[in-house]
Amino acid sequence: MSNKLPIDPLIKLRQRKSTKWREYEKDVLPLPVAEMDYSIAEPIIEAVSEMMRRSDTGYLGKFPELGEAFAGFAMRRWNWQIEPESIRIATDVGVATIEILRTLGSAGDRVVVMPPVYPAFYNWVKEIHFPMVEAVLEKDGVSYSIDFAALEREFSAGAKFFIISNPHNPLGMLFSASELKKIASLAEKYNVTILSDEIHAPLTYSEATFTPFASVSDEAKERVITLTSASKSWNLAGLKCSIFFTESKELHDKLEPLVKGIRHRASLIGAAGHVAAFSQSDEWLDDAIATMEASHRLLHSLVREQWPNVKLSNPQNSYLSWIDFSQTKLGEDPAAEILEKARVALSSGIPFGSGGKNHARLNFATSDELLAEAIARITPWL
Ligand SMILES: Cc1ncc(COP(=O)(O)O)c(C=O)c1O
Repeated sequence: MSNKLPIDPLIKLRQRKSTKWREYEKDVLPLPVAEMDYSIAEPIIEAVSEMMRRSDTGYLGKFPELGEAFAGFAMRRWNWQIEPESIRIATDVGVATIEILRTLGSAGDRVVVMPPVYPAFYNWVKEIHFPMVEAVLEKDGVSYSIDFAALEREFSAGAKFFIISNPHNPLGMLFSASELKKIASLAEKYNVTILSDEIHAPLTYSEATFTPFASVSDEAKERVITLTSASKSWNLAGLKCSIFFTESKELHDKLEPLVKGIRHRASLIGAAGHVAAFSQSDEWLDDAIATMEASHRLLHSLVREQWPNVKLSNPQNSYLSWIDFSQTKLGEDPAAEILEKARVALSSGIPFGSGGKNHARLNFATSDELLAEAIARITPWL
């Protein structure tokens, strides 16, 4: 039986030093960046504290416990068998993505994404000056689906890489094995390498099923590099650690040159925290999922009552709601208007790429009280 997780009162949350709590003026309710307000899992607090107590605060070197912990997690939660030795450590998913592209690609290689999608994908690729192209998701009311024709058009035009948020941020959408198989076949046909960012996967709702991309077919095994971290699901972004791996021997070998350097730039304390997350914190995770499912139900009922002209996504994963404000008077960038008028911070939809205008993203990993207050503050401006 899962329980709702405890959340500190606002006055205590405001003492946090993370970006969510430092970015805005004191009268703003912050519901943007993907951090959770929940108190974190006890085994992680213990593991990190133990490192500090032992003055074990040096550089990160070999850390086989992390590969074993994640392989154990993947087997328990998704019945997915991974070789622990194939798992490599990086600073975070962003750094891993950038360095993988830099190692495998060269100037001019095109990278495909499916917007509206996590804005940092654009920033990461821009950082290394690779061109980006979009295969925009098809929208039907509040549902979205893959536009396979658009994807094939970009793959056949010579794209070298495809980055997918699996599950999808901001939609909280899960892709089916057959959809992923179809993408893998196209990638095989046109020689595209897939980076599957599975950072939100542990937060899949109790009635839904997450499918690891690399698990769907032999073609996927040969094409996919999986990237993940405990940073979203256990709220450890400040600990700076992530992992990446591939079942393709060829890709694994090609990535060898970056392995030592990238691991050295991750955090030893972060690695210890990640081991505790992946191996000892399932119960907390189940409670986190139950808490976000309840918050999402609350959000839906508040919006139904107070925002009749607004549409919400139907996530099956994580704590993000993609909100369509196009029938309101808020204009192309509703988050900017809402911040100014209602003093609530949401993420602007515009950096999410095509399909982002008139939308905003709300983070509902917060207390019922803050959620209700945020909705009430925004209501008069719609
Ligand atoms: C899909 C996705 N990937 C990556 C990240 C960030 O990961 P990291 O901090 O490990 O770079 C986020 C954060 O919100 C995310 O939503």
